[in-house]
Amino acid sequence: MTTPKSSPAKVTVADHPLILHKLSLMRDVQTGVKEFRELAGEISLLLAYEAMRDLETTPETLTTPLQTTEFPMLSGKKLALVAILRAGLIMADAMVRLVPAAKVGHIGLYRDPETLKPVAYYSKLPQDIAERRVFVTDPMLATGGSAVAAIQTLKDAGAQSIKLMTILSVPEGIAVVQAAHPDVEIVTATIDVGLNDHGYIVPGLGDAGDRIYGTK
Ligand code: PRP
Ligand code: URA
Repeated sequence: MTTPKSSPAKVTVADHPLILHKLSLMRDVQTGVKEFRELAGEISLLLAYEAMRDLETTPETLTTPLQTTEFPMLSGKKLALVAILRAGLIMADAMVRLVPAAKVGHIGLYRDPETLKPVAYYSKLPQDIAERRVFVTDPMLATGGSAVAAIQTLKDAGAQSIKLMTILSVPEGIAVVQAAHPDVEIVTATIDVGLNDHGYIVPGLGDAGDRIYGTK
C-alpha cells in the first residue's frame, strides 16, 4: 500500500485589475528605477491584502463617539516579514507599513548565473520565528531554487507557518516549491509563461534586483 502524499498548499493568483495594470507598467523596459520601486511597493500592499486575508481577529470592546460595543482586532500569532535579499526587501519595506508590529527578517541569497543555484550569504531572523506567522517576500519565483532555500532556512530556524509572496511566478518554480515545501501557500500576482535559457522569466520584467536598485 502506498502512503497518499499530502496535496500541496494552494496557490493564490491575486490578479486584480489594479495589480495587473501596475505589473504591466513594471514590465515596461522604459520604466525607470523610481517608478519601478513605487509600483513594486504598491503591488506588495495589494498582495498583502490577499495574503493576510486569513489573519485572526477577536472582538474587543471599544467606544465610538456614539456607542460602546465589540469590534474586531487582530489577534492570534504575531507576524514576521522575511525578505529574500535583495529584491524582496522592497516588498517587506512596503508591507511593514500595514503591519507595523511585525518583526522583519532577512535572508541573503543570490542566484549563480551559471548554475542558477542559490548561493546563501546572509541570514538574520527574529529569535521567536517559531511563534510567528511568516510572510516570505521575493518578487520573482523563477526556477524556485531561491525560494526553496529561503523556506528551508526558515524551517531550520523553527518557523512553522509560512506563506510565500511573489509578484511574478512561473509554473516550473511553483512546482519546485510545492514539491519541497507542500505546506507553504504561494500568493502571486501572476503566473508567466516560463523560463528562457538563462533562467529568466518570460515575458517577465527582467532582473528585479537590478531594476529596483539601478545596478545595471
Ligand atoms: C532573483 C530574485 C529571486 C531569484 C529567483 O534574485 O529576486 O531571489 O532571482 O530565481 P530562482 O527562482 O531561479 O531562484 P537574484 O539572485 O537576482 O538576487 P538579487 O535580488 O540580489 O538581484
Ligand atoms: N530573477 C529575476 O530577477 N528575474 C528573473 O526573470 C528570474 C530571476
